[in-house]
Amino acid sequence: MRALVGALDAKDADTWQHSSRVSAVSVAMARVLGLDDRMQSELRIAGELHDVGKIGVPVELLRRPGRLTAAEYRAVLLHTVIGERMLRPLMRRHPQVLQAVRSHHERFAGGGFPDGLHGYAIPLAARIVAVADAFDAMTSSRPYRAALGVTAAVRELRASAGTQFDPACVRALLIVLRVQGRVGRPRAVPTRRATRCGEPRPRRGMMSVAARGRRARWLSGPARADPDWRRPRWLASDHRRPSAATPCIAAPARAGPHCRRGAS
Ligand SMILES: [Fe+2]
Repeated sequence: MRALVGALDAKDADTWQHSSRVSAVSVAMARVLGLDDRMQSELRIAGELHDVGKIGVPVELLRRPGRLTAAEYRAVLLHTVIGERMLRPLMRRHPQVLQAVRSHHERFAGGGFPDGLHGYAIPLAARIVAVADAFDAMTSSRPYRAALGVTAAVRELRASAGTQFDPACVRALLIVLRVQGRVGRPRAVPTRRATRCGEPRPRRGMMSVAARGRRARWLSGPARADPDWRRPRWLASDHRRPSAATPCIAAPARAGPHCRRGAS
């Protein structure tokens, strides 16, 4: 494995140690996601070898400054298929590695390379490596562009969560960066996933159905010392219309003119 990574580093010195960093970040993300030791080990290898197919891509394409044409970009993306083919005899016992190498340029919303997979049909290892790869690529300087700062890279990743990247993996990376002290507290990443009970995830500022139920049960509990706790002002008891069923118990000083006790 080290020989293959060394060969890639020798071919494209601009991405020197990129694979090692992707590997380390992928393993950290796997820990945040609660994946087991086996999966962490697969991700360590997958991160090291994800771009090994670039050995089979012309070096002038890898180092060309400026934008590539569509045909050139497709030729570069072929490193996914080339890499999987190279590693197949070596990694028979590591299917997740092969999947990550092949699918780390798929898009979460579909239409990626090489198979156009969509959402959770993309192997988890590939979704993790894709986020780690994009983050490291953005925060590394290349001959044709300067490195982005961590905050700007995080902003880009957040903007692409749900379209290019799995939102759960973006969230895991944000937690890794926060633990490493490289960014502040992560905010919520937009997601389309439903909650465990199948209810749609509430939008920002809204209460979920479960939370509304909990609040209602708590508010209607038997031991509320103040029955007007958290009631809006216009529902407070001293403004409530009196009736025989609900006699007004407000103190005379606070009672309105409608209050029987105040009127008597
Ligand atoms: Fe790649």
